[in-house]
Amino acid sequence: MQTVNIGILGLGTVGGGTAQVLRDNAAEIARRLGRNVSVFMVSTRNVGKAFKVCPDALFTTDPFEVVAHPDVDIVVELFGGSETAKDLVLQAIENGKHVVTANKKLLAEHGNEIFALAAKKNVMVHFEAAVAGGIPIIKALREGMSANRIKSVAGIINGTSNFILTQMREQGQSFADALKLAQSLGYAEADPTFDIEGHDAGHKITIMSALAFGTPVNFGACYLEGISRLESRDIKYAEELGYRIKLLGITRQTEAGIELRVHPTLIPECRLLASVEGVMNAVRVDADMVGETLYYGAGAGALPTASAVVADIIDISRMIGADTANRVPYLAFRADNVREQPL
Ligand code: HSE
Repeated sequence: MQTVNIGILGLGTVGGGTAQVLRDNAAEIARRLGRNVSVFMVSTRNVGKAFKVCPDALFTTDPFEVVAHPDVDIVVELFGGSETAKDLVLQAIENGKHVVTANKKLLAEHGNEIFALAAKKNVMVHFEAAVAGGIPIIKALREGMSANRIKSVAGIINGTSNFILTQMREQGQSFADALKLAQSLGYAEADPTFDIEGHDAGHKITIMSALAFGTPVNFGACYLEGISRLESRDIKYAEELGYRIKLLGITRQTEAGIELRVHPTLIPECRLLASVEGVMNAVRVDADMVGETLYYGAGAGALPTASAVVADIIDISRMIGADTANRVPYLAFRADNVREQPL
């Protein structure tokens, strides 16, 4: 059976989860795919730990060695941040590698450049894990909704903020203690201000907006307001009035253009979104033909996010070696497909 070789950049929470999913479900994946998927090479700062996670891989502390290795078919970028990650991904594409990334910051800030190069080089860049962890919302927007005009996308897309708001309401925990707990459970970003000030949700809604409305990514146009100024009494007063406070990412097509924003929102308790608690995420899409659809699941954590990463690996593995000469580039947002810029 043919083997697809994976090169993983970064073996943190999601990288370790990815190696685990590929190992634990190897037989099932090979059965579905008709190919083996092997973790061939890993770049990491901690080779000792990495050896325990994937003992058969080659290791390096230099991620550029992975993107340059001739036997790597798919680069899985879990490096984080955006500047070095951008250089790595562009280099991988230049070298003809397909790319899977969970890096929402990278795509929200540099997606246009990355997808333009991928189109030129005829390689695939998949990013299901970049938005809403294990929920297959990218596939839903890109494939499931392709017969529709999308009117709006709104979601609880930062698990850390939702976890903090839930802990404050249900357990009466302070903001600081709830944040510490979210960090210890591995939900928060390396810099948790990204979670609590709305940046992380902003990156995710920017990516979904570009997919939904066929525009380039434009993170700079996203209004950002996080949850750090909320107090327990805000949550309590909202509850007394029959509302929950949720951090929502919202993008909407209006007559004036596309709205793109993140802010705390009062949601009536009777709405499904109001009952999404803890680290769970949910995204509601309103489209002209199908109407409203709602997607719910774990938005962070090693295995849910790795589930999305590995789904992308499998998707790409299916296409490797197929006749791609007449394939319409399987891209998300295309700079040549500009309809309207976000407001
Ligand atoms: N820090 C992110 C969250 C991780 O809390 O949702 C998943 O993107």
